[in-house]
Amino acid sequence: ESYDMGGHDTYMHKEISEQADAVDRVLRGRIDDRFSTVHLGGLNLDAREARGVRRVKILGCGTSYHAGLIGAQLIEELARIPADAEPASEFRYRNPVVDPDTLYVAVSQSGETYDVLAAVQELKRKGARVLGVVNVVGSAIARETDGGVYVHAGPEVCVVSTKCFTNTVVSFALLALHLGRIRDLSVADGKRIIEGLRKLPAQISEILATEDDIAKLAQEYAGAGSMMFIGRVRGYPVALEASLKLKEISYIHAEAYPASELKHGPLALIEPALPTVAIVPDDELLEKNRAALEEIKARSGPILAVAHAPQEKADHTIVVPKNETELDSILMGIPLQLLAYHTALALGRDIDKPRNLAKSVTVE
Ligand code: AGP
Repeated sequence: ESYDMGGHDTYMHKEISEQADAVDRVLRGRIDDRFSTVHLGGLNLDAREARGVRRVKILGCGTSYHAGLIGAQLIEELARIPADAEPASEFRYRNPVVDPDTLYVAVSQSGETYDVLAAVQELKRKGARVLGVVNVVGSAIARETDGGVYVHAGPEVCVVSTKCFTNTVVSFALLALHLGRIRDLSVADGKRIIEGLRKLPAQISEILATEDDIAKLAQEYAGAGSMMFIGRVRGYPVALEASLKLKEISYIHAEAYPASELKHGPLALIEPALPTVAIVPDDELLEKNRAALEEIKARSGPILAVAHAPQEKADHTIVVPKNETELDSILMGIPLQLLAYHTALALGRDIDKPRNLAKSVTVE
């Protein structure tokens, strides 16, 4: 690729560093303060049609699937429409029931991932309405869908996705806000979410400014043979994505679990040689998450928390700025991109071209 590295050693580092600008770009021109909502020009879904949606099903692969999991939570929370996400690669092989009142959303950075494209084509053949949340303008998935939201992350060269993940989640927040304001989200809540969205670029810059501290933590954890990532509800997709990032570029084995599932099995793994990265937002589940940290500490497991304030049971806490509760997961993954990056750097990995992986998987 011939894109300028802009003084960075890797595209991954460049793309992580671009996130404040990228989020600013995805918001630009879309916020409508008059009605506390957003304009999504390419959606092709009028208010009457939006009110008729009974369910939302989001399909994507890898990081895009993880962004879709957060998207489903945002749509349920803000628009109160039942929503879920599934890997497109699973969906297309299981003869799913295609429901006319369901809005299907295909998510893809490249817009060329074959499993997602095949799912879209099958859905279209069965008469479903499919929207795209896509980064690459004019890509196959953008062309095959009935409308959608462009993610505007700009070109992403590194095999592992970072800035596009963040922008995709923000795009879902916009879609959720749009659907919510057509349905039951109040003007006051719409305004609150808009204010939260506007704060994101500055808060991202604040997180990126702590890179040196995160690099030191990465030195400490780079020797681990395996790492556990936990989160609850909003934190769980963040844990899944952070664990994928670590495996992809550092080749350290990592697992992500809902914190609530620890006691149903994975607690057996906890010991001094298995560090846990815990996503601990200051929300209604804070005490539950702290209880999980206690369980881990009682078994001498090292803990790195990502939280809004230092956590007593954690060995280290990466403190991130607080936003509106619904939007917190957008910020909590960003320091963990840097953790994966610096861990891989410490281990001398080829960060932009991890072994066995391609940027887009355009074949079966
Ligand atoms: C991300 O770090 C991965 N390399 C991978 O999981 C990727 O997200 C997946 O292949 C989907 O790609 P897409 O977003 O271009 O469809």
